[in-house]
Amino acid sequence: MDLPPGPRAPAAWQTVGWMARPAAFMRRAHERFGDPVTIRTYWTEEPMVLFSGPEAVREVFRLDPAIAPAGESWEFLRPFAGAHSILLLDGDEHMRERRLLQGPFHGERMRAFGPVVADLARRELSVWSGRVATLERMRHLTLEIILRVVLGARGDEETARLRAAVDGTLDSVRSMPRMLAMALVQRDLGPRSPWGRFRLAVERFDALLLDVIARARAEPGGDSMLAVLLEQRDEDGAPPSDRHLRDEIVALLVGGHDSSAASLAWAFERLARHPAVHARLRDGDPAYLDAVVKEVLRARPALTIAPRRLLAPVEIAGHRLPAGVQVAACLWLALRREDLWPAASAFRPERWLDGPRPNPLSWIPFGGGVRRCTGAPFAEMEMREVLRAAAGMRIRPVRPQPERARRSMLVVVPDRGAEVLVG
Ligand code: HEM
Repeated sequence: MDLPPGPRAPAAWQTVGWMARPAAFMRRAHERFGDPVTIRTYWTEEPMVLFSGPEAVREVFRLDPAIAPAGESWEFLRPFAGAHSILLLDGDEHMRERRLLQGPFHGERMRAFGPVVADLARRELSVWSGRVATLERMRHLTLEIILRVVLGARGDEETARLRAAVDGTLDSVRSMPRMLAMALVQRDLGPRSPWGRFRLAVERFDALLLDVIARARAEPGGDSMLAVLLEQRDEDGAPPSDRHLRDEIVALLVGGHDSSAASLAWAFERLARHPAVHARLRDGDPAYLDAVVKEVLRARPALTIAPRRLLAPVEIAGHRLPAGVQVAACLWLALRREDLWPAASAFRPERWLDGPRPNPLSWIPFGGGVRRCTGAPFAEMEMREVLRAAAGMRIRPVRPQPERARRSMLVVVPDRGAEVLVG
């Protein structure tokens, strides 16, 4: 079975494009080969067929998880994510876990987190002056938000302790090549080997998390996401085990930290280069604020693909594809294709307010179907609160050229860290 056409460069070369210049790599592949396009990189062992047209994307999101599991694409995360992780499960187990994990993101509960996020955002931005690397600061802020809102960390001292443990562990997870290498080796060659160091970091991190869980159990009724997760009951009415809660927290951390930080960094990168948009934010119109958030997520989606590995042959958009390949909804192309969005490369929040509503099938920064991001309402609220807090600031770009996209672990980030001059 022939795969759809794609770049013929060796996998090593395509990997360089995919990692270092993903925007140009995907755009060129699409311009040259159309939709779909098959790419070969070291990112996955198998070739990957990228789909970006709305109908094909819908078909990818509707694939039967028994044939096209998403969990397998996250397999390399297992040593950190844990056996109960929503990221690794498929089918009924995944749906069960998903129902549990959606609890904290509903209605009143979700809204109650808003003021906490707004307060942390204002505190962070109030100390900015001169040259600020916003990506680094947004990593700091989004982790702070997770520690306080998800875990219910109290006080600066406890937050700092948890931050140190999380940062140490995430550093090993973030460096993808090392993580992949460790997933292959997974042999403990002593505490000083990379795998040994990683295991130790995870153990230290788990010990702290289990402490936090024990305290939350002892003092029920707090207002953190963990408190909500503690109220879960499975079909037999049993509460979640410590390990299960630990894996849920890690899923929220892995899903919600880098993705939100990257999206917020892109927001600063775009606003610094679009003073008229920033000025209009100052008017305080909630509809415009929402449009800016949507436009940042469209113009610079932090996650570029939603991949699935085929266990059996399937047909997508008229293409027969064999078992063993990866197929992906290419979020980046779907959100940025010139034929799908008028003036796609322009940063124009007004497109969300005037004229025809964009096609919801192309608006997929959070993926779609049964794996659509469970944290999406929280992520959008977080972005609104940070941008609201930033509305009154004066920022300029350090260099006028737009920053290019590069990959950092699972997300794409501005290659110079979205540096701005404040004041
Ligand atoms: C702007 C920020 C964010 C973006 C762009 C984003 C995007 C995504 C995408 C594209 C997926 C995968 C969809 C798929 O494979 O089809 C996903 C999954 C997920 N996200 Fe997010 N996300 C963001 C923030 C968050 C936050 C704040 C949380 C939690 C606090 C979160 C938790 C999750 C979880 C748990 C999953 C797995 C869902 C599943 O497998 O069923 N995300 N996200």
